[in-house]
Amino acid sequence: TRTSSAALLLYGATGDLAQRMLLPSLFGLDADGLLPADFRIIGTARSDMDDAGFREHAADALKRFIDSDRLTKDAVARFLARLSYVTADVSDPAGFTRLAEAVPDKGELSIFLSTAPSLFAATIAGMDAAGLAGPDVRLALEKPLGHDLASSRQINDAVKSVFPEERTFRIDHYLGKETVQNLLALRFGNALFEPMWNAQGIEHVQITVAETVGLEGRIAYFDGSGSLRDMVQNHMLQLLALVAMEPPSQFDAAAVRDEKVKVLRSLRKIGPADAARHSVIGQYGPGAVGGAPVRGYADELGHASDTETFVALKAHVDNWRWKDVPFYLRTGKRLPARQSEIVIQFKPVPHSIFATGGAVLRPNKLVIRLQPEENIRLLMMAKQPGLDREGIRLREIPLDLSMANAFADVRRRIAYERLLLDLIEGDPTLFVRRDEVEAQWEWIDAIRQGWEANCMTPKPYAAGTWGPSAAIALTERDGVSWHD
Ligand code: BG6
Repeated sequence: TRTSSAALLLYGATGDLAQRMLLPSLFGLDADGLLPADFRIIGTARSDMDDAGFREHAADALKRFIDSDRLTKDAVARFLARLSYVTADVSDPAGFTRLAEAVPDKGELSIFLSTAPSLFAATIAGMDAAGLAGPDVRLALEKPLGHDLASSRQINDAVKSVFPEERTFRIDHYLGKETVQNLLALRFGNALFEPMWNAQGIEHVQITVAETVGLEGRIAYFDGSGSLRDMVQNHMLQLLALVAMEPPSQFDAAAVRDEKVKVLRSLRKIGPADAARHSVIGQYGPGAVGGAPVRGYADELGHASDTETFVALKAHVDNWRWKDVPFYLRTGKRLPARQSEIVIQFKPVPHSIFATGGAVLRPNKLVIRLQPEENIRLLMMAKQPGLDREGIRLREIPLDLSMANAFADVRRRIAYERLLLDLIEGDPTLFVRRDEVEAQWEWIDAIRQGWEANCMTPKPYAAGTWGPSAAIALTERDGVSWHD
């Protein structure tokens, strides 16, 4: 049995993520009566601020990021009353003592580190010394968890020396997204798809996470990272693992994560021998997005750089189920649309009986869209109405499962609402386990070695286009087009 936390200690409380996502999410939970009655939220950061200042800061976040009709006076007042603030610097032991004094002495505690990973080890050691790491404390960590396997291991070791794995909650916010969980419902709540969910039934899989934004003020972080580490290592590989995994025996943390890690370990390495054929990298130049002119990456950055803002990959999961089924992945900044989706392309019918007339049979596609709106569509062939003499005319039409229509009265939540609630209640199912993160990094490191060995540098693409033309060639070579 699990007990809810009595308090949340939020590191990086004045930062961007807290402002945009975490405080609004906590408010959402509180407004729906999902936080324990006396739940306390203790913010901490280096900035000099008192409780009143932090409440003002939080009130501002709510105003900016929550619809005003949800901000009733009572709900806001109740939420702000839960907040307090402690100024603390990781290099100062007295800061940890003040924090230890500020947390309630009874009940479980959740700690959320939304700070630079370079501070993780010192923060954890300081918390340990101040008695803030007992058996009733769990720790959540925001990405990036390292920049390669070695640095990720270092972080994981520092965490492990104080927090055992079952009390460590690694965040991948994509796992909090409704459609991502819906993927599990679709696969394992319906008998329809599973018999075809394999190399016999599926031709290939595409996963696209396209963004229209550029650097957004995260210049130093992004330029040291690039799209492969920023998006593929975590979000896209988690999506791939959920698509490809075997049915877990139950929906719990051990069973689900056991199956995901098997997939991640079965990913075929794209190393020096394959990187040039199976990966494409790009960097945006000047162009236009949504009709507005935008600067190129190097211009935004202020200097030339070899960091990729686009990556496309052809991946394989080497096991029985996925024998020879390509998984095409692509993600990039400054693409034409904010659009994230998983496309399952089934095999064509084995023989067409519609040999005459205007019948071009297209294989079925299941399109699971995460963004901008959530929906699931099954593209099917149907007869076009009419009395055609030449024979039946077929057309592809979608069988639509629009979440927005089916659940029109349900508020769409921020992914962090799900994750914060699970953290507070101690359910790690939707958090990433150490072996998963390390398997992800291992695969990513090999790709980077492949780029280096092949002297690959990003190919330019104009902002507002779908990446360098080589990304189109990557699939067209196999007779496949990216779904649009
Ligand atoms: C973050 C990346 O993890 O995910 C960002 O660091 C990216 O670069 C963001 O923009 C995308 O998240 P979402 O939820 O907007 O798709």
